[in-house]
Amino acid sequence: MSIPQPGVFAQGTRSHRHLEFDLRTGKRPDVVLEALAGLRQPSVSAGGANIVVGFGPQLWRDLGGPAAVNVVAEFPDIEGVPSTPHDLWIWTHGTGDDVLFDVALGIRTRLDTVAVVASDVSGFVYHDGRDLTGFIDGTENPAVEDAYEVATIADGQPGPGGSFALAQRWVHDLGGFHALDEREQEEIIGRTKADSTELADDVKPDTAHIARVVIEDSDGDEIEIYRRSVPYGTASEHGLFFVAFSADPERFTKMLGRMFGASDDGVHDRLTEFSRPVSGAYYFVPSLEQLGETLGES
Ligand code: HEM
Repeated sequence: MSIPQPGVFAQGTRSHRHLEFDLRTGKRPDVVLEALAGLRQPSVSAGGANIVVGFGPQLWRDLGGPAAVNVVAEFPDIEGVPSTPHDLWIWTHGTGDDVLFDVALGIRTRLDTVAVVASDVSGFVYHDGRDLTGFIDGTENPAVEDAYEVATIADGQPGPGGSFALAQRWVHDLGGFHALDEREQEEIIGRTKADSTELADDVKPDTAHIARVVIEDSDGDEIEIYRRSVPYGTASEHGLFFVAFSADPERFTKMLGRMFGASDDGVHDRLTEFSRPVSGAYYFVPSLEQLGETLGES
């Protein structure tokens, strides 16, 4: 059985950091590997921090040769959804900002000669796992025992134990959202604010967030993703750093399409009136073995 990078699933970490990198002009892809190799033994935590390494489609294709084409996904072209592809995404999460600062600085220093930081976002768990809107985020996330199957590619498929990830920074208009009365806020999400109870079908609008992202496949089963988003920001700019993993990137594309009015019914998610994505990329997160092989570790 292929083993995923453990940080994809590790729980209980309140400090998060997302770094995205672009190769410096003229650098060959393999020099990134030399820089990454030895960064850590990916199977153990580094001083209290989990590290998850994801590769952008272009870099993964360049590194993986013909076999990699089956495990790359290009970000979709959907109006209102910016596509900001980068070469590498490194997600660290741990028990405190001090440890994560050291880890992030170490990663940047190691990659400095070959890649530039394209984005660097510090996130945090807000109260009892709420989004900054005040709504609990994660209620319907797959339970731990189901998350593995939802998030990772099955053995026998290309890229076993790997995952596709969506990393997307959203900026909230909290003033606008909080100016609404609580009932209207609940209709935007589709759940109650206090305890995340789903609104009944006859009161939940078609434009509610959960009405847009709950999608059934041709067998009538709900398509699932495994979300690991956290809030981030300053008093001036803040929102959600949305992160999700899936065995199939098409699930993200379908959900984004239905949120932004690109599906057959043309309905959009009212949440997008109060929050907008300002970045968005798909990454391939190889299994531990494949990461080790790619980095040339035994
Ligand atoms: C500003 C950005 C977003 C915010 C604040 C947000 C917030 C929420 C909240 C509060 C819930 C209900 C509680 C829960 O089940 O977790 C939820 C559910 C969900 N969201 Fe989002 N979300 C955002 C973006 C997205 C995006 C971009 C996707 C997919 C690409 C997505 C997919 C889902 C899914 C699949 C569920 C579970 C639906 C269910 O099974 O009931 N969300 N989200």
